[in-house]
Amino acid sequence: MPGKRILVLNGPNLNMLGVREPAVYGRDTLADIETACRKAAVARGWSLEFRQSNHEGDLVGWIQEARAEADALVINPAAFTHTSVAILDALLLLDIPVIEVHLSNIHKREEFRHHSYVSRAAAGVIAGFGAKGYLLALAALED
Ligand code: DQA
Repeated sequence: MPGKRILVLNGPNLNMLGVREPAVYGRDTLADIETACRKAAVARGWSLEFRQSNHEGDLVGWIQEARAEADALVINPAAFTHTSVAILDALLLLDIPVIEVHLSNIHKREEFRHHSYVSRAAAGVIAGFGAKGYLLALAALED
């Protein structure tokens, strides 16, 4: 669908990508990921809004706004994946596709990362492919 509006949301500490545990999260910065996503969206004739916050309430607010402003949501909720019923509840308000992305394979890591509240509201989950996971999520949104 040309003109599709994509919202990409990123949770806490993802602003530190590039310097944050590069062995786990890779060397791409969040700005690099945004540039790659924008290119992939433009190539499909889509618009893209790309945001990051360290605050749960910001993410909840943006998810609520997505009801009116987005046709699909890609979200890496970062640590809130494993803790936030508030983000799950906000996502359950949406009737657009939601794709959950993690740079790392959360199932290969510590036990507390194995459970995602967010997955209950996700059409699909992409984990373990690094920055490429965001591009895979955009590909998954093609009609
Ligand atoms: C993450 C995985 C989470 O467990 C972690 O808290 C993050 C990033 C990922 O992209 O691999 O901050 O969502």
